[in-house]
Amino acid sequence: MFSKEGKAKDVATPRICDVVWHDGQFIDWNDARVHVMSHVLHYGSSIFEGIRCYATKDGPAIFRLKEHMQRFLNSAKIYRMDHQWKLDDLCNASIDLVNRSGLEQCYIRPILFRSLDEARPAFGVNPFPNPLACYIGAWDWGKYLGDEAIEKGVDVCVSTWNRLTPNSMPAMAKSGANYMNSQLIKMEALLNGFAEGIALDDRGYVSEGSGENIFVVSGGIVLTPPLSSSILPGITRDSVIQICHELGITVKERTIQRAALYVADELFFSGTAAEITPIRSVDRITVGTGGRGEVTERIQSAFFDVTKGERKAPGDWLTYVKASKNSQPGSNGQTERVKGVTPSSNSRTEPVLKYQTAATAID
Ligand SMILES: Cc1ncc(COP(=O)(O)O)c(C=O)c1O
Repeated sequence: MFSKEGKAKDVATPRICDVVWHDGQFIDWNDARVHVMSHVLHYGSSIFEGIRCYATKDGPAIFRLKEHMQRFLNSAKIYRMDHQWKLDDLCNASIDLVNRSGLEQCYIRPILFRSLDEARPAFGVNPFPNPLACYIGAWDWGKYLGDEAIEKGVDVCVSTWNRLTPNSMPAMAKSGANYMNSQLIKMEALLNGFAEGIALDDRGYVSEGSGENIFVVSGGIVLTPPLSSSILPGITRDSVIQICHELGITVKERTIQRAALYVADELFFSGTAAEITPIRSVDRITVGTGGRGEVTERIQSAFFDVTKGERKAPGDWLTYVKASKNSQPGSNGQTERVKGVTPSSNSRTEPVLKYQTAATAID
């Protein structure tokens, strides 16, 4: 029925952490299973995060852990998921997981979903009778859009599918159900020979890729769609904005027309999985010189230096998982355990800080 010609590119997953954090305990990978009648499988009732942990000379360091976990809590709040987990519980569980995994670098996947109470099963859309379950897994994940993409860029298309409308599915929640829309965008792109698709919002303005935010470079100025264009408030997007400020590059949030993509000097995606990936063509129209542009390269290089712990980040962005290791350059060298909660603790203490995850105000 479907053409098999699409160049489906998926990255190999060489190593997976053999334990999974589940509601305060570490369980075996093989035991991390759900019943097929779980609410989430039928009605898409999950929220999740995607977080990268980078290899640095001081051991693995998790990138913007607190901001990701705050977005996780925000997503749960939007969907009225009344769970017990605090920011520090989730951060410390992630640190413990990476430590236990022995992985030098990995991708961390927290997920909270509506499960099934087998003693009192409920099968309706109403999610309230279904218990919540929270898990965090980790695996080693390579370059999301392919190894060459970071340097050479990717060929993309504008999708025939629009992004979610703000009053139907909130794009600012990272919910599993939103990714049915992402899958339509991604499958269409792959089957037509593109690496990724860019969706427009319901008004026809540029929104984002199936799993990435987008940036336009035009006349030396960096532009990105605002949250009102139905985008996920990307943590990498926020990092790019802050890096631009540091590099003295003007960056603005603006509604962007589709045609602006074709005439841009440079385009790039940002995202935890895609990191900073240049876009070399849109709908087979070459962007700029058809490779990684100069501004993109400056931002990308600063970003990777920060993730490697080789450049001071604009904020406290790296959480080093090894207790004895120093924090990022220029910091006080404290260990990164959040609030000093002990490993695998079930502590329910209040988070000290509220982390800002919405886009940095840039206007
Ligand atoms: C739809 C969508 N937009 C944007 C992003 C980028 O967000 P972040 O930089 O927080 O990973 C992602 C990835 O999580 C995504 O799935």
